[in-house]
Amino acid sequence: MTFDRSIKIAPSILSADFANFGAEIRAIEAQGADWVHVDVMDGHFVPNLTFGPPAVKAFRPHVKTVMDVHLMIAPVDPYIDAYADAGADILTAHIEAGPHIHRTLQAIRGAGMKAGVALNPGTPADSVEHLLDLCDLICVMTVNPGFGGQKYIDMTAKVRKLRAMIGDRPIHIEIDGGMDPTTAPQMAAAGADVLVAGSAVFRGGSVDNPSVYGDNITAIRNAAERQ
Ligand code: DX5
Ligand code: ZN
Repeated sequence: MTFDRSIKIAPSILSADFANFGAEIRAIEAQGADWVHVDVMDGHFVPNLTFGPPAVKAFRPHVKTVMDVHLMIAPVDPYIDAYADAGADILTAHIEAGPHIHRTLQAIRGAGMKAGVALNPGTPADSVEHLLDLCDLICVMTVNPGFGGQKYIDMTAKVRKLRAMIGDRPIHIEIDGGMDPTTAPQMAAAGADVLVAGSAVFRGGSVDNPSVYGDNITAIRNAAERQ
């Protein structure tokens, strides 16, 4: 993985057909997805349950781009090796998931993955000030995590602040929640480079009608790049 700040669209397979993940992943990549975003939920840190390491490992051979795994689980540390074994390229943990995020980020890198830290809407930018040299990605949640299709919460001021804090460091700013062609531009303008989108990518398409995914991805990318 080489680092750059170009706009990357990361469809969340939380909005895919759960009976057909392999074909869905191949379809979104063929239609222009830059990364594949995988939402892991535990029914404890967030009020919803998705899938765990064996499922993520089964996704791996279908992902030719970057497998971006977003853990919405607590605790994180006991599962880091399992997600490394599953083939995650980037493993993101929530800062709110436990008292020792510093140790968690070290452990993620130690297991050979890029390390991400996610911030809930109520968590300030300053909370990552002492983590900047330990992370490769900061995920700014623009919904409260747990479900796809929620209403976007504006986090423009937080993204601007993070972008200034990051300076020249090779750290991605990822936005997760409610991204579509109307909300993505302000996030790109504020300094984000990775835009996660679930419902806005999968809406209206299917593996039998995948060009809709392509149109949806292109619409978000064009809106963000016009900034
Ligand atoms: C929310 C997840 C998101 C979600 C985004 O907890 O982390 O990745 O799938 O879905 P949309 O784009 O529909 O808001
Ligand atoms: Zn996510």
